[in-house]
Amino acid sequence: MPVAGAVEVTPGLVDRGDPGGDLTTGRAAFIERAQTRGDLFIEQRYELYSEANQETWRRLYRALAGRWEQHANPRFLEGVARLGLDPDRIPRLSDINRFLQPLSGFRARAVSGYVPAYLFFDCLRRREFPTTITVRDGGRLDYLPEPDIFHDLAGHVPMHTDPAFADVLVRFGEAARTAAMRARNGDCRRVESALRGLARFFWFTIEFGLMRRPDGNGLCAYGSGLLSSAGEIGHSLESPDVQRVPFQLDWVVNQSFEIDSLQPLLFVVDGFDHLEREVMRLERWLGRGRLDNVAPGEPEVSREDLQSFLEPGA
Ligand SMILES: [Fe+2]
Repeated sequence: MPVAGAVEVTPGLVDRGDPGGDLTTGRAAFIERAQTRGDLFIEQRYELYSEANQETWRRLYRALAGRWEQHANPRFLEGVARLGLDPDRIPRLSDINRFLQPLSGFRARAVSGYVPAYLFFDCLRRREFPTTITVRDGGRLDYLPEPDIFHDLAGHVPMHTDPAFADVLVRFGEAARTAAMRARNGDCRRVESALRGLARFFWFTIEFGLMRRPDGNGLCAYGSGLLSSAGEIGHSLESPDVQRVPFQLDWVVNQSFEIDSLQPLLFVVDGFDHLEREVMRLERWLGRGRLDNVAPGEPEVSREDLQSFLEPGA
Protein backbone atom coordinates (compact mmCIF):
# COMPACT_ATOMS: atom_id res chain seq x y z
CA MET A 1 0.00 0.00 0.00
CA PRO A 2 1.33 3.40 -0.89
CA VAL A 3 1.11 4.92 2.55
CA ALA A 4 2.69 1.92 4.20
CA GLY A 5 6.00 3.62 3.50
CA ALA A 6 5.03 6.52 5.70
CA VAL A 7 7.07 5.31 8.61
CA GLU A 8 8.37 7.82 11.10
CA VAL A 9 12.11 7.40 11.42
CA THR A 10 12.82 6.78 15.06
CA PRO A 11 16.16 8.00 16.44
CA GLY A 12 17.48 4.46 16.80
CA LEU A 13 16.78 3.73 13.14
CA VAL A 14 18.19 6.88 11.60
CA ASP A 15 20.54 6.23 8.72
CA ARG A 16 24.10 6.89 9.89
CA GLY A 17 25.73 5.42 6.79
CA ASP A 18 28.19 7.07 4.47
CA PRO A 19 27.60 10.83 4.79
CA GLY A 20 28.15 11.32 1.04
CA GLY A 21 28.13 15.11 1.32
CA ASP A 22 25.60 15.70 -1.43
CA LEU A 23 21.89 16.38 -1.25
CA THR A 24 21.37 17.12 -4.92
CA THR A 25 17.97 16.08 -6.27
CA GLY A 26 18.19 12.74 -8.06
CA ARG A 27 21.60 11.70 -6.78
CA ALA A 28 21.53 11.85 -2.98
CA ALA A 29 22.56 8.52 -1.48
CA PHE A 30 20.92 9.40 1.84
CA ILE A 31 17.57 9.86 0.09
CA GLU A 32 17.96 6.69 -1.96
CA ARG A 33 18.60 4.68 1.18
CA ALA A 34 15.54 6.19 2.90
CA GLN A 35 13.39 5.37 -0.11
CA THR A 36 14.73 1.81 -0.25
CA ARG A 37 13.76 1.34 3.38
CA GLY A 38 10.32 2.84 2.75
CA ASP A 39 10.95 5.81 5.05
CA LEU A 40 8.86 8.71 3.84
CA PHE A 41 9.27 11.02 6.80
CA ILE A 42 12.94 11.58 7.49
CA GLU A 43 15.23 13.99 9.27
CA GLN A 44 17.13 16.79 7.57
CA ARG A 45 20.76 15.69 7.84
CA TYR A 46 22.11 19.20 7.51
CA GLU A 47 25.76 18.15 7.41
CA LEU A 48 25.08 16.35 4.11
CA TYR A 49 24.63 19.58 2.17
CA SER A 50 27.70 20.13 0.02
CA GLU A 51 29.19 23.54 -0.67
CA ALA A 52 27.75 23.18 -4.20
CA ASN A 53 24.27 22.71 -2.66
CA GLN A 54 24.73 25.87 -0.59
CA GLU A 55 25.95 27.76 -3.65
CA THR A 56 22.83 26.68 -5.59
CA TRP A 57 20.63 28.06 -2.79
CA ARG A 58 22.55 31.37 -2.85
CA ARG A 59 22.24 31.70 -6.63
CA LEU A 60 18.52 30.89 -6.57
CA TYR A 61 17.87 33.34 -3.76
CA ARG A 62 19.78 36.10 -5.58
CA ALA A 63 17.85 35.40 -8.79
CA LEU A 64 14.47 35.55 -7.04
CA ALA A 65 14.82 38.21 -4.33
CA GLY A 66 14.38 41.16 -6.72
CA ARG A 67 11.51 39.39 -8.47
CA TRP A 68 9.75 38.87 -5.16
CA GLU A 69 9.94 42.58 -4.39
CA GLN A 70 8.41 43.30 -7.76
CA HIS A 71 5.80 40.58 -8.13
CA ALA A 72 5.08 38.70 -4.90
CA ASN A 73 2.00 39.07 -2.79
CA PRO A 74 2.75 41.36 0.20
CA ARG A 75 1.96 38.54 2.63
CA PHE A 76 4.63 36.42 1.02
CA LEU A 77 7.20 39.18 1.52
CA GLU A 78 6.15 39.49 5.16
CA GLY A 79 6.51 35.71 5.47
CA VAL A 80 10.07 35.77 4.11
CA ALA A 81 10.97 38.40 6.72
CA ARG A 82 9.18 36.62 9.57
CA LEU A 83 10.92 33.31 8.85
CA GLY A 84 14.28 35.04 8.64
CA LEU A 85 15.16 33.15 5.44
CA ASP A 86 18.91 33.36 4.94
CA PRO A 87 19.95 34.34 1.41
CA ASP A 88 23.29 32.60 1.92
CA ARG A 89 22.46 29.32 3.65
CA ILE A 90 19.94 26.55 3.16
CA PRO A 91 17.56 26.83 6.13
CA ARG A 92 17.31 24.23 8.84
CA LEU A 93 13.71 23.04 9.11
CA SER A 94 13.97 23.20 12.90
CA ASP A 95 14.80 26.93 12.70
CA ILE A 96 11.96 27.58 10.24
CA ASN A 97 9.49 25.75 12.47
CA ARG A 98 10.51 27.73 15.54
CA PHE A 99 9.24 30.85 13.79
CA LEU A 100 6.43 29.26 11.80
CA GLN A 101 4.53 27.24 14.38
CA PRO A 102 3.60 30.14 16.69
CA LEU A 103 2.29 32.08 13.68
CA SER A 104 -0.07 29.57 12.07
CA GLY A 105 0.43 26.18 13.71
CA PHE A 106 2.06 24.86 10.54
CA ARG A 107 5.36 23.03 10.49
CA ALA A 108 7.59 21.87 7.66
CA ARG A 109 8.28 18.14 7.85
CA ALA A 110 11.12 16.55 5.87
CA VAL A 111 10.19 13.83 3.37
CA SER A 112 12.29 11.55 1.19
CA GLY A 113 10.29 12.02 -1.99
CA TYR A 114 6.86 11.89 -3.52
CA VAL A 115 3.99 11.86 -1.05
CA PRO A 116 0.88 9.98 -2.25
CA ALA A 117 -1.92 12.46 -2.88
CA TYR A 118 -4.23 11.63 0.03
CA LEU A 119 -1.41 11.55 2.53
CA PHE A 120 -0.15 14.90 1.22
CA PHE A 121 -3.55 16.58 1.67
CA ASP A 122 -4.07 14.91 5.03
CA CYS A 123 -0.74 16.33 6.20
CA LEU A 124 -2.08 19.78 5.30
CA ARG A 125 -5.21 19.08 7.31
CA ARG A 126 -2.95 18.42 10.31
CA ARG A 127 -0.94 21.57 9.55
CA GLU A 128 2.13 19.70 8.41
CA PHE A 129 3.82 20.55 5.15
CA PRO A 130 5.74 17.67 3.52
CA THR A 131 9.03 19.30 2.59
CA THR A 132 11.67 18.09 0.17
CA ILE A 133 15.18 18.51 1.56
CA THR A 134 17.25 17.99 -1.59
CA VAL A 135 18.47 20.89 -3.75
CA ARG A 136 18.15 21.04 -7.52
CA ASP A 137 21.23 20.59 -9.72
CA GLY A 138 23.15 23.86 -9.86
CA GLY A 139 23.62 23.46 -13.60
CA ARG A 140 19.87 23.66 -14.24
CA LEU A 141 18.65 26.35 -11.89
CA ASP A 142 15.31 27.03 -13.52
CA TYR A 143 14.50 23.46 -14.49
CA LEU A 144 12.38 21.80 -11.87
CA PRO A 145 11.05 18.35 -12.74
CA GLU A 146 10.15 17.78 -9.09
CA PRO A 147 10.06 19.90 -5.95
CA ASP A 148 13.27 20.75 -4.13
CA ILE A 149 13.96 22.58 -0.90
CA PHE A 150 14.01 25.96 -2.63
CA HIS A 151 10.58 25.36 -4.14
CA ASP A 152 9.17 24.05 -0.86
CA LEU A 153 10.83 26.33 1.69
CA ALA A 154 11.26 29.55 -0.28
CA GLY A 155 8.25 29.08 -2.60
CA HIS A 156 5.60 27.63 -0.29
CA VAL A 157 6.45 28.12 3.36
CA PRO A 158 6.53 31.97 3.56
CA MET A 159 2.81 31.91 2.72
CA HIS A 160 2.22 29.47 5.58
CA THR A 161 3.09 32.20 8.09
CA ASP A 162 -0.23 33.84 7.23
CA PRO A 163 -3.10 32.40 9.33
CA ALA A 164 -5.72 32.98 6.59
CA PHE A 165 -3.62 31.21 3.98
CA ALA A 166 -2.81 28.41 6.42
CA ASP A 167 -6.56 27.93 6.92
CA VAL A 168 -6.96 27.59 3.15
CA LEU A 169 -4.44 24.74 3.15
CA VAL A 170 -6.29 23.01 5.98
CA ARG A 171 -9.46 23.36 3.87
CA PHE A 172 -7.73 21.46 1.06
CA GLY A 173 -7.11 18.68 3.55
CA GLU A 174 -10.79 18.69 4.51
CA ALA A 175 -11.79 18.62 0.83
CA ALA A 176 -9.54 15.62 0.24
CA ARG A 177 -11.09 13.88 3.24
CA THR A 178 -14.55 14.47 1.78
CA ALA A 179 -13.35 13.01 -1.52
CA ALA A 180 -11.89 9.97 0.24
CA MET A 181 -15.11 9.32 2.20
CA ARG A 182 -17.07 9.42 -1.03
CA ALA A 183 -14.46 7.23 -2.74
CA ARG A 184 -15.36 4.36 -0.43
CA ASN A 185 -18.66 3.98 -2.24
CA GLY A 186 -17.60 5.14 -5.67
CA ASP A 187 -16.10 3.41 -8.65
CA CYS A 188 -12.48 4.00 -9.59
CA ARG A 189 -13.29 6.08 -12.64
CA ARG A 190 -15.24 8.62 -10.57
CA VAL A 191 -12.62 8.74 -7.87
CA GLU A 192 -9.95 9.31 -10.51
CA SER A 193 -11.99 12.15 -11.97
CA ALA A 194 -12.49 13.80 -8.56
CA LEU A 195 -8.78 13.51 -7.86
CA ARG A 196 -7.92 15.06 -11.21
CA GLY A 197 -10.21 18.00 -10.44
CA LEU A 198 -8.71 18.44 -6.98
CA ALA A 199 -5.17 18.35 -8.40
CA ARG A 200 -6.08 20.95 -11.02
CA PHE A 201 -7.52 23.25 -8.38
CA PHE A 202 -4.36 22.92 -6.28
CA TRP A 203 -2.18 23.55 -9.33
CA PHE A 204 -3.98 26.69 -10.46
CA THR A 205 -4.06 28.19 -6.95
CA ILE A 206 -1.42 27.05 -4.47
CA GLU A 207 1.16 26.28 -7.15
CA PHE A 208 0.45 28.84 -9.90
CA GLY A 209 -2.10 31.25 -8.51
CA LEU A 210 -2.28 34.97 -9.26
CA MET A 211 -4.13 37.48 -7.11
CA ARG A 212 -5.35 41.04 -7.45
CA ARG A 213 -3.10 43.38 -5.50
CA PRO A 214 -4.67 44.53 -2.24
CA ASP A 215 -4.39 48.18 -3.40
CA GLY A 216 -6.27 47.31 -6.60
CA ASN A 217 -3.22 48.08 -8.70
CA GLY A 218 -2.61 45.12 -10.97
CA LEU A 219 -1.77 41.53 -10.11
CA CYS A 220 0.73 39.67 -7.95
CA ALA A 221 1.84 36.08 -7.46
CA TYR A 222 0.99 33.83 -4.52
CA GLY A 223 1.60 30.42 -6.15
CA SER A 224 4.80 28.69 -5.14
CA GLY A 225 5.61 27.46 -8.66
CA LEU A 226 5.77 31.11 -9.67
CA LEU A 227 7.57 32.32 -6.55
CA SER A 228 10.34 29.72 -6.80
CA SER A 229 11.16 30.14 -10.49
CA ALA A 230 12.91 33.19 -11.93
CA GLY A 231 11.54 32.26 -15.37
CA GLU A 232 7.94 31.65 -14.34
CA ILE A 233 7.42 34.66 -12.09
CA GLY A 234 8.28 37.25 -14.73
CA HIS A 235 6.52 35.31 -17.46
CA SER A 236 3.35 34.98 -15.39
CA LEU A 237 2.93 38.70 -14.87
CA GLU A 238 4.70 40.33 -17.79
CA SER A 239 4.34 38.12 -20.85
CA PRO A 240 1.68 38.99 -23.42
CA ASP A 241 1.51 35.26 -24.18
CA VAL A 242 -0.15 34.45 -20.85
CA GLN A 243 -3.91 34.42 -20.55
CA ARG A 244 -4.86 35.69 -17.07
CA VAL A 245 -8.51 35.10 -16.31
CA PRO A 246 -10.74 35.54 -13.25
CA PHE A 247 -10.98 32.35 -11.21
CA GLN A 248 -13.89 30.14 -12.30
CA LEU A 249 -14.27 26.87 -10.46
CA ASP A 250 -15.97 24.96 -13.28
CA TRP A 251 -13.23 26.02 -15.68
CA VAL A 252 -10.35 25.28 -13.28
CA VAL A 253 -11.38 21.70 -12.45
CA ASN A 254 -11.77 20.91 -16.15
CA GLN A 255 -8.56 22.59 -17.33
CA SER A 256 -5.52 20.46 -18.25
CA PHE A 257 -2.03 21.71 -17.54
CA GLU A 258 1.52 20.81 -18.45
CA ILE A 259 4.24 20.70 -15.84
CA ASP A 260 7.25 21.03 -18.11
CA SER A 261 6.62 24.30 -19.95
CA LEU A 262 5.92 27.90 -18.99
CA GLN A 263 2.28 28.26 -18.04
CA PRO A 264 0.15 29.85 -20.77
CA LEU A 265 -3.05 30.17 -18.69
CA LEU A 266 -3.37 31.41 -15.11
CA PHE A 267 -6.36 32.13 -12.88
CA VAL A 268 -6.75 35.24 -10.75
CA VAL A 269 -8.45 35.35 -7.33
CA ASP A 270 -9.56 38.58 -5.66
CA GLY A 271 -7.90 37.82 -2.33
CA PHE A 272 -7.37 35.13 0.29
CA ASP A 273 -11.03 35.31 1.40
CA HIS A 274 -12.05 34.60 -2.16
CA LEU A 275 -9.61 31.69 -2.34
CA GLU A 276 -10.97 30.19 0.86
CA ARG A 277 -14.57 30.50 -0.37
CA GLU A 278 -13.61 28.69 -3.57
CA VAL A 279 -11.93 25.84 -1.66
CA MET A 280 -15.10 25.49 0.42
CA ARG A 281 -17.12 25.35 -2.80
CA LEU A 282 -14.71 22.72 -4.09
CA GLU A 283 -15.37 20.63 -1.01
CA ARG A 284 -19.14 20.92 -1.54
CA TRP A 285 -18.74 19.96 -5.19
CA LEU A 286 -16.66 16.94 -4.19
CA GLY A 287 -19.31 15.91 -1.67
CA ARG A 288 -22.10 16.16 -4.25
CA GLY A 289 -20.23 14.33 -6.99
CA ARG A 290 -19.80 17.38 -9.22
CA LEU A 291 -16.22 16.37 -9.95
CA ASP A 292 -17.09 12.82 -10.96
CA ASN A 293 -16.87 13.62 -14.67
CA VAL A 294 -14.27 16.31 -15.20
CA ALA A 295 -12.68 16.71 -18.62
CA PRO A 296 -10.01 14.09 -19.36
CA GLY A 297 -6.38 15.11 -19.75
CA GLU A 298 -3.55 16.17 -17.49
CA PRO A 299 -2.68 15.53 -14.81
CA GLU A 300 -2.50 11.80 -15.01
CA VAL A 301 -3.68 10.18 -11.79
CA SER A 302 -1.20 7.53 -10.71
CA ARG A 303 -2.27 4.19 -9.27
CA GLU A 304 -0.50 5.15 -6.08
CA ASP A 305 -2.50 8.39 -5.75
CA LEU A 306 -5.75 6.64 -6.55
CA GLN A 307 -5.05 3.90 -4.03
CA SER A 308 -4.23 6.47 -1.36
CA PHE A 309 -7.79 7.82 -1.66
CA LEU A 310 -9.47 4.43 -1.87
CA GLU A 311 -7.68 3.14 1.23
CA PRO A 312 -6.62 6.28 3.09
CA GLY A 313 -5.83 4.46 6.30
CA ALA A 314 -3.73 1.77 4.68
FE1 LIG B 1 4.72 22.94 -4.83
